[in-house]
Amino acid sequence: MSEQQTKTKPADGGKMWSGRFREPLDAVFEQWQRSFPFDVRLLPQEVAASKAHARTIAAAGVLTDAELERMIEGLDQVGDIAPEFAPVEPGFVNPRLLAAELGTTPRFIRRWLGRQPEFSEIHVKHTRIALAKDDPLLLRMKNHFAIQANLNLDGEDACEEFPTTTEADLAASMARAEDIHHFVELQLTRMIGPLALKLHTGRSRNEQIATDMRLFVREAIDATAKGLRRWALALIELAEQAGDAAMPSYTHMQRAEPVLVAHWLLAYVAMIERDIARLADARRRMNYCPLGSGAVAGATLALDRSIAARELGFDSPTANSLDATSDRDFLLEFTQALATLGVHISRFAEEITLYSTAEFGYLDLPEAFSTGSSAMPQKKNPDFTELLRGKSARLAGAATTLAVLMKGLPLAYNKDLQEGQEPVFDTADTVRGILGILPAFTRSLKFNLERMRTAATTGYLNAMAAATYLSNQGVPFRKAHEIVGNTVRLGLESGRELDAIPLAELQGLSSAYGEDFRAAIALEATLDCHDVIGGTARARVRTALAEARERLSSGA
Ligand code: ARG
Repeated sequence: MSEQQTKTKPADGGKMWSGRFREPLDAVFEQWQRSFPFDVRLLPQEVAASKAHARTIAAAGVLTDAELERMIEGLDQVGDIAPEFAPVEPGFVNPRLLAAELGTTPRFIRRWLGRQPEFSEIHVKHTRIALAKDDPLLLRMKNHFAIQANLNLDGEDACEEFPTTTEADLAASMARAEDIHHFVELQLTRMIGPLALKLHTGRSRNEQIATDMRLFVREAIDATAKGLRRWALALIELAEQAGDAAMPSYTHMQRAEPVLVAHWLLAYVAMIERDIARLADARRRMNYCPLGSGAVAGATLALDRSIAARELGFDSPTANSLDATSDRDFLLEFTQALATLGVHISRFAEEITLYSTAEFGYLDLPEAFSTGSSAMPQKKNPDFTELLRGKSARLAGAATTLAVLMKGLPLAYNKDLQEGQEPVFDTADTVRGILGILPAFTRSLKFNLERMRTAATTGYLNAMAAATYLSNQGVPFRKAHEIVGNTVRLGLESGRELDAIPLAELQGLSSAYGEDFRAAIALEATLDCHDVIGGTARARVRTALAEARERLSSGA
């Protein structure tokens, strides 16, 4: 009977779930539902989580020590995917490429590195190896393997226990894999044979994808925070260079009061610091390990979940299996925090675009970040800041996609969740791209401080200071406001700023005007009368600037 059944069953093509099926999948549907084309970038996370799971089931007695070792090494090999498919990250070397260059195998590179005292966590992230081109460790490694090659030590070179998978094997796995979990299983089977099939003991893809995505987001948060600090420091540098230079501030896009250029720039630093805090907060909330949650109800083996949690740098295991396998709050929070960052970047971009126009003339666009027009030879276009404004739209879009994706989902895992990956990848890539340019762009901005000062000292921006002067003379503020209003009208009608109206004429409007009025409405006095925490008085801004530098340098 069972033989009969086996005969009528279609070839399963190595699926992870084919046991209960009689009919093959529709070929078009099969292709269409795959997530591998985009979740392949989770390979490092999948390998790291699989290694942690292997240690957990080994501790539960499912694997012997030798089996565990073989599995860990096999998983590392799987992580050494062909360079053209490896997720790129600056500073990381591809173990496969390095091995080829040194005439050895990635496995021996790892073994050698593991024995070096200065080799630490900073050199590995998941399966990747981080080594700068001039890292002394890299030079020593090169020497070591060169000597090995000269001595022709077969023992060190032999890697026959591992059948090296060919590029054709890799291509076949890639073509067939439903998702990254399936891919790792297929490749691991090629590397270590049937032992690979034990890896899935006591786990489910539902907890795996939840874990992989957490690892991905955690790294993206760290990278973003680092980039944001760099941008903030660039703004601080500009602010320091601006010294006591002043510019108009605006409300309703009308000139309001003079502020220090540094004060204006520090407004963006304040936004950035909130963005960093939002990310740090989200990171704290998401740093729990779903492994051991099973498909929905918890693992069916008595696993010590703290092993994997510790190994992967999580604070502890998640508290509820239903929630852990279907929770994507951390994706929501990540995309929402970056959508908010997008809003800040876009506002900055808008101001720079505006201030670079001939109408404002506050700054000259750096040529390195601008383009010309194919039609109008005189033009220099603010492409970078315009694209920044545009990119913020897709960040907002990703956050919206996640929110709409989640809102109607019953507990627990549903395949809809697969659609939550790409907006997150896109968000991480978009922000990485932006923050790779924004600090250098910011640092290269050159302000026309003379023009900003002129704009700050014409158009009665000192009227508020004038009213404050009168109120200090004992005139009730409401009355003072009216008198200064009349004075401004007098100035407008006769084409004079407040400081150009002779005292005698001023006293015709109010006897409270005195000799010291002119000094009280000079630019510096106008700035310094805002002597409160967060105000634009020169001393206050100097302090704020120093404090900001201190906070952001130490956090770097
Ligand atoms: N590719 C799937 C995803 O991204 C992995 C989880 C699959 N789980 C399942 N029960 N089919 O969500």
